[in-house]
Amino acid sequence: MIARKKLQCSVFEDEERARKYSKESGKWMEGMAREFIAAAHEWGISRGRILDVGTGPGVLAIAFARNMPEVEVVGLDLSEVVLAVAEENAQKNGVSSRVSFERGDAQDMPFDSVFDLVISSNTLHLVENPVNMFNEIQRVLKPGGKFFMSDFRRSFLGLLTAHIRASYSLGEVSALLAQSDLEDWQIKDSFLWLKILSAV
Ligand SMILES: C[S@@+](CC[C@H](N)C(=O)[O-])C[C@H]1O[C@@H](n2cnc3c(N)ncnc32)[C@H](O)[C@@H]1O
Repeated sequence: MIARKKLQCSVFEDEERARKYSKESGKWMEGMAREFIAAAHEWGISRGRILDVGTGPGVLAIAFARNMPEVEVVGLDLSEVVLAVAEENAQKNGVSSRVSFERGDAQDMPFDSVFDLVISSNTLHLVENPVNMFNEIQRVLKPGGKFFMSDFRRSFLGLLTAHIRASYSLGEVSALLAQSDLEDWQIKDSFLWLKILSAV
């Protein structure tokens, strides 16, 4: 297994990069959004409040709002630049009345325990202390609330792609989860992905 190497820049700092990512990710995020939404349906979630941690251009948050007309979605991100792009995307998709975006840190979230579902994609490997992010997810969930996080899984492909090199192995993510307050988690793994989701 190749050694993990953190990315030097973990948040979007310039508008051009944020817009490029927004355009490119829209396509490949569609499949991921379908999987997240299917899990939410299985848990019986079709209304209430959803939080997308590390929302970036808001693609996942917007997909939930489009598919579930009774939910309110909040997208949290550290980058003001990418949140401005996310706002535009929500307006273009006609969901800005039910999707809002806030600047904040995944490790110290500006919320109480108000969410029915917390989602996050492609962000865990960028956060300085993942245990703090897991603890915060547990804290902001309502009792019985659910979570679904998806991130890359480190493999030899990390020699080609810095994001994969910065991501965690199955063993590492299991150890981090075991140190955290997050309850009732399970991990579904494949060669490319680690998915951490509510087990019940
Ligand atoms: C690779 S992008 C993923 C965006 C989106 N979730 C997706 O899958 O397309 C990761 C996002 O996490 C944000 N981010 C990084 N560290 C963060 C932190 N500590 N708290 C909140 N957001 C963070 C970055 O600014 C960026 O928008």
